[in-house]
Amino acid sequence: MKKIMLALALTSAAAFATDITITATMQLMDNGLNQVQRGFLYNSKEDILEGITKLENSDAIFKTVDVTTFIPKNKKVTVTKNITNNLGDDLKILRKSIENNEFTTATEKYGEVLNDCVACHTVIRGW
Ligand code: HEC
Repeated sequence: MKKIMLALALTSAAAFATDITITATMQLMDNGLNQVQRGFLYNSKEDILEGITKLENSDAIFKTVDVTTFIPKNKKVTVTKNITNNLGDDLKILRKSIENNEFTTATEKYGEVLNDCVACHTVIRGW
């Protein structure tokens, strides 16, 4: 009995830690994406680039999290991993197009970044 209690306590502590990491990471994602959008609307390359850096940093944290902990027994783990990889690639192209002042390509890439967010949430939340 004691063993079971301990196991339960450990499981919930681990789940709690994961939850904090995911929430904090996603809030950083949210913040970065907003800054990119603000940068477009206020013609601030600086804001866009800072936002991209925030997104890249949060994507890096996200890659260290074991996704199976928040989608238990979910067969779509591969799908979400692919989405994270796409996000990284799209962010790289977005950064390049901003650096080269290719704003039409940049807004298209911004749309793809947003699509990566929504694609993963759709899988995770069963939207
Ligand atoms: C590979 C999967 C994945 C990707 C990509 C992803 N997210 Fe999330 N996101 C999650 C998970 C898991 C949660 C937590 C569970 C939930 O809210 O359904 C979450 C939750 C959130 C939340 C709610 C946080 C809260 O406090 O409740 C926001 C906001 C968010 N994500 C923003 C973003 C943005 C912006 C992007 C893209 C730049 C993004 N996410 C990309 C998996 C992902």
